[in-house]
Amino acid sequence: MNRRSIILGCGSYLPDQIVTNDELSKRVDTTDEWIVARTGIRQRHIAPPEQMTSDLALKAAERALEHAGVAASEVDILILATTTPDQTFPATATKVQSRLGMTNGAAFDLQAVCSGFIYALSVGDNFIKARQAKTVVVIGAETFSRILDWEDRGTCVLFGDGAGAVVLRSASADDLEAEPGETGHNRGRGILSTHLHSDGATNDLLYVDGGPSSTGTVGHVRMNGREVFRHAVTNLAGIVGETLEANGLTSDDIDWLVPHQANKRILDSTAKKLGMPSDRVVVTVDRHANTSAASIPLALDEAVKDGRIKRGDLVLMEAMGGGLTWGAGLVRW
Ligand code: ACO
Repeated sequence: MNRRSIILGCGSYLPDQIVTNDELSKRVDTTDEWIVARTGIRQRHIAPPEQMTSDLALKAAERALEHAGVAASEVDILILATTTPDQTFPATATKVQSRLGMTNGAAFDLQAVCSGFIYALSVGDNFIKARQAKTVVVIGAETFSRILDWEDRGTCVLFGDGAGAVVLRSASADDLEAEPGETGHNRGRGILSTHLHSDGATNDLLYVDGGPSSTGTVGHVRMNGREVFRHAVTNLAGIVGETLEANGLTSDDIDWLVPHQANKRILDSTAKKLGMPSDRVVVTVDRHANTSAASIPLALDEAVKDGRIKRGDLVLMEAMGGGLTWGAGLVRW
């Protein structure tokens, strides 16, 4: 039997401190009106200096394991998507591994900026399909506030900190039973497909102006906002179309769109191109801002825990980020 990954559980964590647009306007030359109109963002959570990416990731992973009813000792692979590791090395994932009490298997970081969660989900899914793992924890966690230039109003208003995680388990025969009305190769629960792309020719649209091998400093986020916006609208429409086509589906079949939360206008544009009504799009950008690799699992966790996403629902996730990288994943919950 071909293997498939089921998402058994999810969890998330946000730092306590909330920073509103009005508070930011005391720091840089901006206004709540400007930020809300251009991005839909009203507030973001910011981690205190003593709280690191590993702390956020650990809490999200613990909550996901508890929700899944899985012990850390059962985990074979832990993948942490992050752009803001605690240190250049070791991988932040290995710190989370040890603090979770996961004693076997392997843990590693993955870097695809805002597409990191989709990339990590795809890698975890492929470990399961290749029968190299039965249980995988996929985390997206960021302390993005640490790499912001707090004097650049064009970027510092856009991002926040947070973490989200899912637990993948190799499917049992029961999981792959068709729900009533399902036919075709993609019936049953689990990750139906993932799709990844990158284009390094667009590196200079969104990057950090530092790094261990270049400047020896951590650096700050630099962005050509207009161009990133333009590419996001095109690339996300493309990846969504590719995913639907690969599964023989149309947007009418999708119950929930869980997009990377960069900007409300990008979300609206993708939903409009798909012809999806806004009440089937999960939106957290207003409260979380852009938490990079953490944004999709944070949004997913919210919609699962408040009962919007239910067993059997078709959930489409998509993201674009620095690289540029972009990707999508389709899951039957
Ligand atoms: N407050 C007030 N004014 C501002 C601010 C701010 N926070 N930021 C920029 N401005 C000003 C600019 O200085 C400029 O002023 P000027 O005309 O006097 O020079 C004016 O607003 C327009 O600037 P633009 O950058 O052209 O504004 P735009 O309409 O493109 O909006 C924004 C900027 C919101 C960044 C938009 O381009 C965008 O959302 N791009 C996508 C970027 C993104 O989401 N990146 C996240 C990472 S990638 C991803 O996750 C998909």
